[in-house]
Amino acid sequence: KRLILIGPPGSGKGTQSPIIKDEYCLCHLATGDMLRAAVAAKTPLGVKAKEAMDKGELVSDDLVVGIIDEAMKKPSCQKGFILDGFPRTVVQAQKLDEMLEKRGGKVDKVLNFAIDDAILEERITGRWIHPSSGRTYHTKYAPPKTPGVDDITGEPLIQRKDDTAAVLKSRLEAFHKQTEPVIDYYAKKGIVANLRAEKPPKEVTAEVEKVLSS
Ligand code: AP5
Ligand code: ZN
Ligand code: ZN
Repeated sequence: KRLILIGPPGSGKGTQSPIIKDEYCLCHLATGDMLRAAVAAKTPLGVKAKEAMDKGELVSDDLVVGIIDEAMKKPSCQKGFILDGFPRTVVQAQKLDEMLEKRGGKVDKVLNFAIDDAILEERITGRWIHPSSGRTYHTKYAPPKTPGVDDITGEPLIQRKDDTAAVLKSRLEAFHKQTEPVIDYYAKKGIVANLRAEKPPKEVTAEVEKVLSS
């Protein structure tokens, strides 16, 4: 299956995608994770992306389309994929359609992580991440066994630089202005499934499974 996960910051895309990946053996591409890795490694791409990311604004369409085009060449991504955080503008969605057309495929399903903005600040400011694996914790909703430490490796957890209440405001603004039109773009094709993303993680997983098995 070729799946897209769309939702505002903190809606649970990164929490659900490893579960979907394990069950359906898909390739998982998260543009935010790829960009953060580029910023940490100070690659030319990372240097270009950093300023926008720190402010909670979107990185240019050309940059992210380039990353996705390159990543999709991986053999593991030929039969199916989960895109988390891409496409985020209508231009990106059109470019993706062109890319897939060339390769003889199309998007099967768009999972829309629908949630009220008011819930997101608590989710974002309580998030802790294990950088090398991408494992995500939450001080209240998914606490690690030892505060600040990854359950599996024992390595320290970090917080994302853009996970502040102030930067969240810009990220939400970008979502409503630039990304919500992408949901309409796919709704016109009749492939959007709406999830109740404010539910506990297990219930969201159950909704995802229901959509994917139908
Ligand atoms: P990106 O990394 O994609 O961030 P985002 O979209 O803001 O989404 P998040 O990762 O914050 O949220 P999530 O939905 O994954 O939430 P999570 O599951 O972790 O993008 C970052 C930046 O990169 C952008 O601002 C932009 O600058 C740039 N960028 C990336 N892609 C781009 C593109 N295509 N074009 C242009 N620029 C791009 O959950 C959050 C917390 O809540 C966790 O602590 C988790 O444990 C907890 N939680 C999750 N689910 C639940 C639940 N059901 N109940 C209770 N708690 C829960
Ligand atoms: Zn994420
Ligand atoms: Zn809106």
